[in-house]
Amino acid sequence: MLNPKLYKSSRVYDFFMKSLGYERSLDRFLRSLALDYEGPIRILDAGCGTGVLGLHLLERFPEAKLIATDLEPNFLTTTLANADARGISSSRVTAGVANITRPNELTHLDGTKETLADESISIICIGAVVGYSDDTKASIRQMVKMLAPGGTLINIEMNESPSGRFVSRRYHYSNIALSVMQDVLREEGCEVSFTKLSLVHLPAKLTRVGIIARKPRK
Ligand SMILES: C[S@@+](CC[C@H](N)C(=O)[O-])C[C@H]1O[C@@H](n2cnc3c(N)ncnc32)[C@H](O)[C@@H]1O
Repeated sequence: MLNPKLYKSSRVYDFFMKSLGYERSLDRFLRSLALDYEGPIRILDAGCGTGVLGLHLLERFPEAKLIATDLEPNFLTTTLANADARGISSSRVTAGVANITRPNELTHLDGTKETLADESISIICIGAVVGYSDDTKASIRQMVKMLAPGGTLINIEMNESPSGRFVSRRYHYSNIALSVMQDVLREEGCEVSFTKLSLVHLPAKLTRVGIIARKPRK
């Protein structure tokens, strides 16, 4: 269950992400991942926070478009401002409120609703968010459904080290065991790999781990 006070100010969150070097280290980790896509692919950053994951991918794939979702509209506003600051055209980013419990159902900032179709997204990136779902396993299964064949789910998840557990408790983040997450992804037909962050990915290394799930092509 989300404690709204913790995410009250997206600007404060953004300030710490940048000044503590979190954004830079997550960016560097993403750069190390082999992702073989081209053309006008669709990317979803669910629980986008300040948009660090999705905006990195937009820079990497210049023809791609991003759907950024979060439970808190103020984070969407900050994500759009960060896109602008990175020189990314607003035509490439759609922002909508969505609960990670139902990651395919979003309400755009103008109030219109959209249901994201199955197999319609090439890359879904998430980070430290599925632990806020009412049903984490169901959220993961739904996101795999939304992936196009050959798509990738990148989850830069809270790790299970003492520091990762400490921060998770601090942010009321109650995730399933990562081994169970791996089992769920495999049951859904994905190839799954865990990638530990290394020293060059400090400080994110202290709390995060990369879980990369690839959905086979048909
Ligand atoms: C720890 S931040 C992670 C932000 C970003 N994904 C990252 O990796 O840095 C968690 C984000 O999840 C959002 N969030 C919390 N509960 C949520 C929910 N039930 N559904 C969608 N987003 C949620 C918060 O508003 C916040 O932006």
